[in-house]
Amino acid sequence: MGADGRALLRLTDLTVDFASQEGMVHAVDRVSFQVAPGELVGLVGESGCGKSVTAGAIIGLTGMLPNVTMSGSVEFDGRDLLTLPEAEVRAIRGRQISMIFQDPITSLNPVLSIERLMTEGLELHLGLSHADAVKRSIALLDEVGIPKAASRIKDYPHQFSGGMRQRVMIAIALSCNPRLLLADEPTTALDVTIQAQILRLLKRLSREHEAAVIVITHDLGVVAGMCRRILVMYAGRIVESGPAKALFARPHHPYTVGLLKSVPRLDEPRRDTLQTISGLPPDLAHLPPGCAFAPRCFLATDECWQAEPELASTGDGRLSACFHSASLHEAAGVVA
Ligand SMILES: Nc1ncnc2c1ncn2[C@@H]1O[C@H](COP(=O)(O)OP(=O)(O)OP(=O)(O)O)[C@@H](O)[C@H]1O
Ligand SMILES: [Mg+2]
Repeated sequence: MGADGRALLRLTDLTVDFASQEGMVHAVDRVSFQVAPGELVGLVGESGCGKSVTAGAIIGLTGMLPNVTMSGSVEFDGRDLLTLPEAEVRAIRGRQISMIFQDPITSLNPVLSIERLMTEGLELHLGLSHADAVKRSIALLDEVGIPKAASRIKDYPHQFSGGMRQRVMIAIALSCNPRLLLADEPTTALDVTIQAQILRLLKRLSREHEAAVIVITHDLGVVAGMCRRILVMYAGRIVESGPAKALFARPHHPYTVGLLKSVPRLDEPRRDTLQTISGLPPDLAHLPPGCAFAPRCFLATDECWQAEPELASTGDGRLSACFHSASLHEAAGVVA
């Protein structure tokens, strides 16, 4: 929630289950959070914890899957996208909410030119003539740092490098001036230098276009310098949230401690020297009773194996779902 309490997006108990051969996959479990207009929020957690499914639910794609059951609400500007008629959701998607998809290779249709990819939304959502849409597209490509944008607009995605394709995706995502941008692993496929450029670009564009952004990543390092608020997700649940600075300085959940230890340090950028959290995330079709993190947690007690800790206030404007939040800092110091 922003300081003034206004929410552009408000998720309440969003729950997403998938029917699969292994049984019900509990991909997202009672997730609640808010995003204020113009706010930059980081959604972090290991692979498979439910980040993309959450984003898909916000933009209305998860609900279209045949094996899905959803409950809770996803209010955008006060309207619940989960119950809104599909035609109305479609009018919001791409226009007011847009998404940079996780895979830059497959998410740009290879048979369409950059011109076609860029102008389609502008013509459909903003009603621009083709000539005006081309003009605006060139300006956008220029803004995201595509050299000689006017001549490259006729090119096809395969003629661009990974970093350039990512810039094109950002340009497309911002083209209709969305109020909310979902950036799903916006830099994972890119090398470190390009990563930094793309993150700076996203931050600047969000400020200039006044768009709220949810940056989704498994790497806390990506959101550290960019987002004001962090949501930590584990096994389909938010397990900790709070202002970035405070959360990094003093995490309240042992899982966040583990994530922080796996962030590369500036003076030690080699990823193969990093610590990772021991053990694997649980199978979302067969969640253990109690806290889903207990099997990997250095603090787990009998209580943790029996009861599931609720996401609750830790009294400092932050939330944590751990029975041991209060004693964590000292305990983490001992094991560090
Ligand atoms: N259509 C589907 N049918 C069944 N299970 C699914 C489906 N889509 C996702 N899942 C499962 O839901 C869980 C969450 O997936 P999700 O893609 O949200 O993870 P993620 O946090 O984005 O991971 P990553 O960092 O690898 O992108 C996973 O266990 C995944 O296998
Ligand atoms: Mg994902």
